[in-house]
Amino acid sequence: MKRMMVAGNWKMFSTVNSATQLIEGIVGGLPAPVTERNGDSQTDVVICPPYTVLGTAAHLLANSPIALGGQNCHHEQEGAFTGEVSAQMLTDIGCSYVILGHSERRRDYHESNSLIALKALAAVTAGLTPIVCVGESLEQRERGETADVVGTQLTEFVRGAGSGCLAASIIAYEPVWAIGTGKAATPEQAQEVHADIRRRCEEQYGLSPMILYGGSVNANNAQSLFQQVDIDGALVGGASLSVESFLAIIKAAVGS
Ligand code: PGA
Repeated sequence: MKRMMVAGNWKMFSTVNSATQLIEGIVGGLPAPVTERNGDSQTDVVICPPYTVLGTAAHLLANSPIALGGQNCHHEQEGAFTGEVSAQMLTDIGCSYVILGHSERRRDYHESNSLIALKALAAVTAGLTPIVCVGESLEQRERGETADVVGTQLTEFVRGAGSGCLAASIIAYEPVWAIGTGKAATPEQAQEVHADIRRRCEEQYGLSPMILYGGSVNANNAQSLFQQVDIDGALVGGASLSVESFLAIIKAAVGS
């Protein structure tokens, strides 16, 4: 049985009220293998809500097996960076993970591989586990560049952050064309890229990281994705905002 993870990326959704309902529903419906963890539970569950509900979420999750994560952090510890949140602040409020380099941040906020590497270093220093996102656009896939694009994202990340930081990180393969489109990669397409990421990490750094798949994962396709040998779980966007769907994905991970 491999170790699995299901992480929910809530993006810019939820108020204190809706987050409370969502968390109570998820915690109340967790399958026994997740709730009865005794150190060797094989499925980790993480939720990454917006900053404004992290405090509420930390409180609600205090006695649950679900871990909390941020969706981004600044690379400096503190300073005059209006509107930003540091890795330390995430740890302080109860986070143990942080999503970094999501394609929406690469696209909308021009985050480079080297900046993402600095953020990951700050995250690890603060005691967080980075979930580092990589993935190709539709045009890049159609041009046959997927392996190169993902390979470059990884190599530049490690050049900036070091292999020790990679060893402390989780990779999320998220093809940009599959995010929020309802058009997930097929299990075979995802497995091919996951295997390539694992091979690169093994050959270049002697590491075999946990690799999550992200992009339109839902209650119907999770199981077939999780059956792939190099898919260690999912980073879930839209479907993590529904108690029913998120629990179904967790159950698929527990059963795989
Ligand atoms: P999606 O988002 O599941 O809604 O496609 C995934 C992500 O952006 O992490």
